[in-house]
Amino acid sequence: MIAGNWKMNTTVKEARALVTDMIPLLEQIENVEKVVCPPFVSLSAIAEVLRGSSIRLGAQNVYFEERGAYTGEISPPMLAELCEYVIVGHSERRHYFNETGEIVNRKVQAALRFNLKPILCIGERLEEYDAGRTEEVVIGQLRSSLSGVESPRGLVVAYEPVWAIGTGRAATGEQANRIIGLIRHNVAELYTEGFARDLRILYGGSVTADNTAEFMQQPEIDGALVGGASLKADQFSSIVKQTSDIAYHLSA
Ligand code: PGA
Repeated sequence: MIAGNWKMNTTVKEARALVTDMIPLLEQIENVEKVVCPPFVSLSAIAEVLRGSSIRLGAQNVYFEERGAYTGEISPPMLAELCEYVIVGHSERRHYFNETGEIVNRKVQAALRFNLKPILCIGERLEEYDAGRTEEVVIGQLRSSLSGVESPRGLVVAYEPVWAIGTGRAATGEQANRIIGLIRHNVAELYTEGFARDLRILYGGSVTADNTAEFMQQPEIDGALVGGASLKADQFSSIVKQTSDIAYHLSA
């Protein structure tokens, strides 16, 4: 899976133009699930543009209540009419908007309850990385996000080291592969071996067309969550194409 997180970029008009440019580039590429996550205000317009296409749609955030007096928030059933996926627990939400582990957990539960597929983001900060606490932090986030979740059907996990997001300083393929393997091991403990094997775990953080292959060749890495490079149709389609070629060779 390659998912594009557009973050707070593109007006509705720009979003429509971007996805219109992407469709002919992405449509023919097989064996990779392609997802775009534009801002909330563009979801409806983009859903229209994507009708009949193989590109899936996701949102970047969701609130955990179903409805009510929560000015400015967007609920799971509102999104479920428009899209299939929702990013939950992105580090920018955790750090700029004070989303705690408990909030992330409630969001994961709410998304699943309304058949939205959460793309759950976990990852350590630079000071935690430097202190050698990566494993403890990442697994702690994983377990708290999934606390009380009995059947996470449709779940996708994205390992995104915070120090690699938007910095141009990506992790190495080996580093990401090792942590993703550890995540999978913990998912197997929480659920079943079969669920863990089939779970898609993505790497995210400064993925570009130039370093995609390094990540996709790793056995534990099932795709990428792409920020900056998902805002350019040619870059994004190159990432998807390379992933498809590698997936084809790995499965052959
Ligand atoms: P980036 O963002 O690719 O711009 O580093 C990744 C993300 O935040 O998901």
